Amino acid sequence: MDAVNDAANHTAEPVPGPRSTASTAVDRAGSAPDPAAAQPTGPGHPTGSRLHPRVTSFRSRRGALTATQQQSWARMWPRIGRDVSDDALDAAAWFGRQAPLIIEIGCGTGTATAAMAQAEPEFDLIGIEVYKPGLAQLVQRIEREGIENIRLLRGDAVDVLEHMIAKDSLTGVRVFFPDPWPKARHHKRRLLQPSTMTLIASRLRPGGILHVATDHAGYAEHIAEVGAAEPQFIGLNEAAGGDRDSFAESAPIGFDRPVTKFESKAHRAGSDITELIWGKIGS
Ligand SMILES: C[S@@+](CC[C@H](N)C(=O)[O-])C[C@H]1O[C@@H](n2cnc3c(N)ncnc32)[C@H](O)[C@@H]1O
Repeated sequence: MDAVNDAANHTAEPVPGPRSTASTAVDRAGSAPDPAAAQPTGPGHPTGSRLHPRVTSFRSRRGALTATQQQSWARMWPRIGRDVSDDALDAAAWFGRQAPLIIEIGCGTGTATAAMAQAEPEFDLIGIEVYKPGLAQLVQRIEREGIENIRLLRGDAVDVLEHMIAKDSLTGVRVFFPDPWPKARHHKRRLLQPSTMTLIASRLRPGGILHVATDHAGYAEHIAEVGAAEPQFIGLNEAAGGDRDSFAESAPIGFDRPVTKFESKAHRAGSDITELIWGKIGS
């Protein structure tokens, strides 16, 4: 995962998803039309453009699944996984129960996803990831350990939020170690931009939580700025301009989290980790 910003390590593999959406490269760069107003529009809607591929926060990476991963995928994916689409998600039907829903964007190999699902059986968790071999590792673990409260979506999380997730429906959104795109000319690829913050806020229910962690100081600063500028958010911990002790007890999801796979590498490299937590205003 840590090499994801290195173009040399990437080869083209198509990522599923509605490609002709209203979200353009300009949208991602931060000066978007109000994404909170985005509605599922169906494939080929008139505002989409195929002339200019849009800027995404990832580059597609190819990677083979092992034979056992393929077998597990074949058994499990039809029940617990879906490719991103224009279809509004009925989470209660998919999980077979009504429970508060938490989405994790860029779950990677799902080390933390699985640990959180097991520690939080009262929540339903959806992991979103573009990288199939990462998802395949998580699928195997879900099968091996019989984890019932995880579902997986393969594709661009921005497409998922725009097209599949209803407004005011999420109790939590987690973004752990989003790719920092450290070079200035790549900053437009960063996932957490003003437009994405507004989109995430619109999908959270009032009181819902956005929890971000990063080991990149420059990206942490940028995220703090765009979060502070989002009028639907109030900072709930120090890095987000709030006071963690005042909010941690009453928040609908916990502020603690397990170490992710990426983070265990960052720890080895001695990086500082910044946690940024916001709540959506309203009750
Ligand atoms: C640095 S890795 C971190 C993975 C994991 N959260 C961890 O901490 O181990 C970032 C991940 O985000 C995924 N990603 C980046 N942009 C994405 C997007 N728009 N939608 C879904 N996944 C995305 C990448 O494929 C990559 O696996």
